[in-house]
Amino acid sequence: SQQEAQLTDEILSLLKQKDACLVAHYYTDPILQALAEKSGGCVADSLEMARFGSQHPASTLLVAGVRFMGETAKILSPEKRVLMPTLEATCSLDLGCPVDEFSAFCDQYPDHEVVVYANTSAAVKARADWVVTSSIALRVVEHLADQGKKIIWAPDKHLGDYVRQKTGAEMLLWDGACIVHEEFKAKGLQELKKVYPEAAILVHPESPDTVVEMADVVGSTSQLIRAAATLPNRMFIVATDRGIFYKMQQAAPGKVLIEAPTGGTGATCRSCAHCPWMAMNGLENLRDVLLRGDQEIQVSTNLIERARLPLQRMLDFPV
Ligand code: 13P
Ligand code: SF4
Repeated sequence: SQQEAQLTDEILSLLKQKDACLVAHYYTDPILQALAEKSGGCVADSLEMARFGSQHPASTLLVAGVRFMGETAKILSPEKRVLMPTLEATCSLDLGCPVDEFSAFCDQYPDHEVVVYANTSAAVKARADWVVTSSIALRVVEHLADQGKKIIWAPDKHLGDYVRQKTGAEMLLWDGACIVHEEFKAKGLQELKKVYPEAAILVHPESPDTVVEMADVVGSTSQLIRAAATLPNRMFIVATDRGIFYKMQQAAPGKVLIEAPTGGTGATCRSCAHCPWMAMNGLENLRDVLLRGDQEIQVSTNLIERARLPLQRMLDFPV
């Protein structure tokens, strides 16, 4: 619409004026993803967002995504100002892993290596030996298992279970889940696959094991986009947040992308294939934060120092 076009222009000039770089996740509104691309920022998975932000020369990073992504950017670039359209955009995995309980759990198993998913608070990261995202989790755990290490994994139990099965590592799992991916249903997927037998099934590993078992490809958001672009299939059933369709369709033009079925429908389901916290990012609050600078990520120096080590280990891990 005309209003959207106006806001977009306003944001583009504010980004320049404030020496700010826009980094957006694949699950945000396609309007924001297009804007990030147009402005010379990036649209990426959580690992690439962290990398890109830490290497970009801008003095302000504007992170469109959820809070842990903003915190990660701040931890990796403490000298930069990190803003988000709203600091209220959190994640059910982060909420489900309070640092005191988690720390007490870790204290019971001092001989275990602590591996946490990026979808956690800065304080939880500070308690960890390793931080991983879904695109690098398997490789890091494989490496630890090769060294005979026992592992505490938090917070996503589905991803943890998948990694444990794939690597055979000895892992204790925290009981957390993503409210979006947990909604995907194997039964509905089987029915859809009967209708479209030629479709390949792409699944994010935060989904339940019964859904993961049906996948042709299991991977992070960027790995799923690559799969849609490179597999010979003309049709894909995709079990992850529907925000991904914007970049996936660009990467796989002419291919047919279908949403995997979820348990609920319409207004009765607050998390059906779209993350309610990612959805809090919009053009208006993005413009407002550039004008006011009020939604700034703050992480204490102490936490930054401690959380940086396991994060840096992930970024330095050979790919
Ligand atoms: P990716 O690391 O695959 O981008 O996932 C982040 C996330 O929040 C998934 O729900
Ligand atoms: Fe968290 Fe799930 Fe939303 Fe990703 S999609 S931010 S894991 S609640």
